[in-house]
Amino acid sequence: MAAAVAMGAFATPAFAQEVVKIGLIQPMTGPSASTGKQAEAGAKLWMQLHGDTVAGKKIQLIVKDDTGAPDVTKRIAQELVVNDKVNVLMGFGLTPLALAVAPIATQAKIPEIVTSAATAIITEQSPFIVRTSFTLPQATVPMAQWAAKNGIKKVVTLVSDYGPGIDAEKAFKEAFSANGGEVVSELRVPLRNPDFAPFLQRVKDAGPDAVFVFVPSGFGSAFMKQFAERGLTQAGIKLIATGDVTDDDLLNEMGDAALGVVNTHHYSASHNSPENKEFVEAFKKANNFRPNFMAVGAYDGMQLVYKALDKTKGNADGQALIDAMKGLSWTSPRGPVQIDPETRDIIQNIYVRKVEKVNGELYNQEFATIEMVKDPVKAAKKK
Ligand code: DHB
Repeated sequence: MAAAVAMGAFATPAFAQEVVKIGLIQPMTGPSASTGKQAEAGAKLWMQLHGDTVAGKKIQLIVKDDTGAPDVTKRIAQELVVNDKVNVLMGFGLTPLALAVAPIATQAKIPEIVTSAATAIITEQSPFIVRTSFTLPQATVPMAQWAAKNGIKKVVTLVSDYGPGIDAEKAFKEAFSANGGEVVSELRVPLRNPDFAPFLQRVKDAGPDAVFVFVPSGFGSAFMKQFAERGLTQAGIKLIATGDVTDDDLLNEMGDAALGVVNTHHYSASHNSPENKEFVEAFKKANNFRPNFMAVGAYDGMQLVYKALDKTKGNADGQALIDAMKGLSWTSPRGPVQIDPETRDIIQNIYVRKVEKVNGELYNQEFATIEMVKDPVKAAKKK
C-alpha cells in the first residue's frame, strides 16, 4: 500500500508526462476566421514536416474556436488548463483575446505563446507570455521612415480603433514627425463592421500626399474596395500601410486597386529564401491556399515549443520552457528571428514591399530590409 502510494506520487510530475499538450485557441469562425484558418494550417504544417515527437515526448495539438470573443477565449483557456492539463497555450488572433488569457498563464505558470496578436503591451501582461507574431510599432516605424525619405510630406492616418491600431497611429506619427513629415489628421474606424466610406471622404478632403492605414488581417479587402471606389488614387493620394492591409490571404482577390501599394511587414509569401520556398510549397500542397503572416506566426510558435523542449531535454515544466525560450534563435520562413530574452517579443527583419503582379498573381515584393528590429516601444522605455 505504502509502496503503491509512493509510486503514484512519483509517477505523476509534469516532467514524467509522456505527452506534451498544446492548446491552440483561435477565431475559427466570425470576422477573424481567416486568422484561425491560417494559424491552424501553419501549426499543423510544422507537425507534418517535423513529426509529433520531440526529446522523447509525444506532442498533442488541441485546436479550439473562440469565435473572436474574449470571454470565450478565457473560458476555453481555463478548461484546457484544468481539464486537459495542457503544457502550453497558443494562438490569440486579436489583442483582447491574448490579454484575456494573461492572468491564466500567470496563475498556471505555463507559456502563453502569442502567434497572432500584435499590440506592444501584450508581453508585459504576464512573465509567461512569449510572442512569435510581431508588434505594430515594430512594423510601422520603418513605413514612416521610408515615407519621409521618399517625398511624402503630409499624411492622414486611418486605423482600426483598438490596441494595434492605436499603436500604429502613435508609432507612425512619432517616427514621421522625427523625420520631418507632418500628420495632418488621425482617423480611427470601428473594428466591428467598419464602413470606411465617410473616413475616406475625410481623407480626400484633407488632401494629404498619402494615407497611412492599419486594419487587422481579414479586413483589407473591404478597405481596398472602398478605397478604389472613392477615387483617392485619382486625387493623387497614395496608400501606404502595414502589411496587415495587403495580407497574403486576401491580396490576390483585391485586384489592381492594390497594385503599387508600398507597405512594411515581417512576412511575404514571396520572401526569397530556401526556407520560405520549402514552406510555401508544402503549405499550398497541404491547404490549397497561400500562407500569410498568421500561418508563419503559428508555424514558428510550434517551432519555438519544439526547440525549447529540445533544450530542456523533454522537461515540459512551464517555467523551464519559458526559461528555455528566452534568447532562442532560428531561421523562419520570414528570415532570421530571435526571442528577445528581456521582453519575450520577437526580434526580426522588417521588409519594405510593393504590391506587384508576379506570374499573374499579386504579391508583396520585398525591396528593402531593416535588419533585426526590436519592438521600439520597449526599446525606448529602457533608455
Ligand atoms: C491584431 C490582429 C490582426 O489581425 C493583425 O493583423 C494585427 C494585430 C491584433 O488584434 O493584435
